[in-house]
Amino acid sequence: MSAPADRYAAARRRMKHPEFDRFRTGYPFELDPFQIGACEALADGHSVLVCAPTGSGKTVVGEFAVHLALASGQKCFYTTPIKALSNQKFNDLVERHGPDAVGLLTGDNVINAGAPIVVMTTEVLRNMLYVGSTSIDGLAYVVMDEVHYLGDRFRGAVWEEVIIHLPAAVRLVSLSATVSNAEEFGEWLVTVRGDTRVVVHEQRPVPLWQHMMVGNRLFDLFGGDGSTVNPELKRHITERMRHLDPGLRGHRPTRGWRPPHRPDVIARLDSEGLLPLITFIFSRVGCDAAVRQCVLSGLWLTEPGERDEITTIVEQHIAAIPVEDLDVLGYWEWLDGLRRGVAAHHAGLIPAFKETVEELFVRGLVRVVFATETLALGINMPARSVVLERMSKFNGDTHADITPGEYTQLTGRAGRRGIDIEGHAVVLWSPEADPGRVAGLASTRTYPLRSSFRPSYNMAVNLVGQLGRLAARELLELSFAQFQADRSVGGLAKQIRRSEDTLREYAAQMVCDRGDFAEYAALRRELSDREAGLAREGARTRRGAVVASLEALRPGDVIRVPGGRRAGLAVVLDPDVRPHDDPRPLVLTEARWAGRLSLTDFPTSVEPLGTVRIPKTFNHRSPQERRDLASRLRALDVPPPERRARRAAPAAEDGQIATLRAAIRAHPCHQCPDREAHARWAERYQRLERETAALHRRIEGRTNSLGRTFDRICALLDDRGYLAGDETTPAGRQLARIWSESDLLVAECLRAGVWDGLDAAELAAVVSTLVYESRRDESISDRMPTAAVRDALAATTRIWAELADSEEDRSLPRTREPQLGFVWAAYRWTQRDGLDRVLTSANEVGVELSAGDFVRWCKQLLDLLEQIAVAPSPSGVQAPVAVQARAAARIIRRGVVAQGMFP
Ligand SMILES: Nc1ncnc2c1ncn2[C@@H]1O[C@H](COP(=O)(O)OP(=O)(O)OP(=O)(O)O)[C@@H](O)[C@H]1O
Ligand SMILES: [Mg+2]
Repeated sequence: MSAPADRYAAARRRMKHPEFDRFRTGYPFELDPFQIGACEALADGHSVLVCAPTGSGKTVVGEFAVHLALASGQKCFYTTPIKALSNQKFNDLVERHGPDAVGLLTGDNVINAGAPIVVMTTEVLRNMLYVGSTSIDGLAYVVMDEVHYLGDRFRGAVWEEVIIHLPAAVRLVSLSATVSNAEEFGEWLVTVRGDTRVVVHEQRPVPLWQHMMVGNRLFDLFGGDGSTVNPELKRHITERMRHLDPGLRGHRPTRGWRPPHRPDVIARLDSEGLLPLITFIFSRVGCDAAVRQCVLSGLWLTEPGERDEITTIVEQHIAAIPVEDLDVLGYWEWLDGLRRGVAAHHAGLIPAFKETVEELFVRGLVRVVFATETLALGINMPARSVVLERMSKFNGDTHADITPGEYTQLTGRAGRRGIDIEGHAVVLWSPEADPGRVAGLASTRTYPLRSSFRPSYNMAVNLVGQLGRLAARELLELSFAQFQADRSVGGLAKQIRRSEDTLREYAAQMVCDRGDFAEYAALRRELSDREAGLAREGARTRRGAVVASLEALRPGDVIRVPGGRRAGLAVVLDPDVRPHDDPRPLVLTEARWAGRLSLTDFPTSVEPLGTVRIPKTFNHRSPQERRDLASRLRALDVPPPERRARRAAPAAEDGQIATLRAAIRAHPCHQCPDREAHARWAERYQRLERETAALHRRIEGRTNSLGRTFDRICALLDDRGYLAGDETTPAGRQLARIWSESDLLVAECLRAGVWDGLDAAELAAVVSTLVYESRRDESISDRMPTAAVRDALAATTRIWAELADSEEDRSLPRTREPQLGFVWAAYRWTQRDGLDRVLTSANEVGVELSAGDFVRWCKQLLDLLEQIAVAPSPSGVQAPVAVQARAAARIIRRGVVAQGMFP
């Protein structure tokens, strides 16, 4: 900054943004241009949207909003999607501005709620807005950290609700990970929030190198040009595939492949100086097993002095956990791993364990972490390297390939700003991990933010209560969801207009002086549709016949393979008669080849032509035995292949086809000399017309789609007495305080009084069925803790079934069915049983519950019980169920569940 012009510009800036200059001197580093740009926009009074990669320093912009609020005597709320992240942020801000200036509001904690700066989860702010809390007074800035959560399938709507409802005067600071449609998102923000500056920064703060590890060799993924796969890597992989299974070259290389031993991978990467590292394994069990593998192999990544340091830190973190709970938490094994420098990180761990791992990793004491993808969300735990063991993950029912967005998010953890010069992403090669695909993922830059907003019952009563129905409906149309739908509608409408112009041109081209060519063309179309339909049917029957004929084969049957590489006679070794639609018989051919054939080898049904005896001990892998059997096959006397007569087209037999043909011949246009030229235009016309009709249908589906859902929701709430026109009824006001996913079901149960008369533990057990959601199919014993629980559950389920029916009638999504998996755990814990006993009791009824799961479900249960405790009863007097709910919540909040909560 030496040129006079630059100095002048800098000086002007300083005069223009004195507050910003005071602020930036508080950092030990120079701010990046994108940070400066965003802060200046903020200082100028705009809202900002900052999209920048993981770890690039977006927080600075949020902190500037905090600074501006304090400097002007106003308020700033800093919102995050995760309680743990809120806690972290709270601590940071207290350190910077002192405890008096900063408060914390999460489901777990209420600290200094009246402070000018309050850190909170986004849900807390949404609830404040609906309740009309006075805390909003004087609010000047809201920071929404990790605003891309708006796309989250389950919770995303909350972000849109907040963005839509915040008073117009509030400046919004939205911090987002990289998304490819930042401009679109920004445009929406302008429509709902007014003036908003979009600051997009693409560059990672620490450059990322992509590698692939094959066996114990580490390769650059990209070649010298930086965009195509490293040719040396390709050569090496081809070589390896050849060695894996020489006999089956190119067929099933997976057979000879073994995944590399983790301690070897770690040792290799350690020798390259790539530790600390995070290995993503998309399963909790897999993460735990990986740690065990390292421990059993005798791996030590720490020095003796560090081990004591580790133990000290661990003991600080677990001080509040009752000693008797440590065994069931697997404490000793966990500590052993930590002292060696390895750990797992996933949602099955209790928060105290996760936080310990995070701290030890950030301090460089734990050097290897095996993690599920939850680590990639939110928490600040960068590494030098990120390792991916596989390119697919199990999402509950299927294995899904990793998307480019996920790949970027996961590998984004590699490279610590200020510590590493570069970060490294290492994909472990396996026969499924094609380097070309990995290279594609690593270089794709499209992961758009999509709205997941949909109106809920709770939202409806809150909105109607505040604004009346009409205004509420208009507000919904402001959502990003509707914005995106409308946008796509705009594009579709344009396309339709273009198509309609083209259709007119086509119509002009097919005008025929003999008669109505469109009518004639329609007949021809009908004929070809009918013929195609019959042909499809024929193919289906034929395939069925082939499958049936293959399934009828017996060992020893001799068949003729009609064509292809294996053409000729073959004897069936194993017909493969498992019940499925795709038989793959194992055969031996005349040419002594043994292997499985498939449906594609048989265009028509097979018939056994004879049999040969197969020796009982026959081994098709033995060349000698193959030769013997093949010679017996060749010696067999079978008729030569017959030339099949071509099938008569089934169409000829169809009456409808005959009628259509006659009508076509009789049509005046049939004799036109230009008939085929006209017909070609007519075909184009028909195709485009069909496409245009489909576009029309798509538009209809999208316009006002949210408004219509909202109307259906309101109609249902009217019916059930939660809404009366523009008013909320007393029952509606109770529903307005139930934020649960099963909001209406909770309200219905409260209103019907089916939970009255339960004691605290029984109530916790019953209410748990409305929060708990199993990750897999559970077959749970229906043994219940008490008769009262059984009856209350039966009544709850009845109410659910009736509600689900009326939802179905109105084409609304059905409320989730109550699930029994947490009943025993909730009951026992609320009876003050120890953690060990509680987890065992869940196990006894067939539910696998990790301690981490247990804590998470307890916190959700706690949330709902607290809502039930304070939601205003329609009768105006406090219901006994509210008293029990409060009592239950008090008991549940203890031991491992209370960890990290303010007492
Ligand atoms: N201009 C800068 N120069 C050097 N270091 C910086 C700069 N800005 C921020 N940092 C540091 O970079 C690290 C990451 O910053 P930060 O947590 O704000 O990233 P982020 O963009 O919020 O990432 P994420 O998407 O993971 O939340 C922090 O340790 C921060 O102190
Ligand atoms: Mg951040």
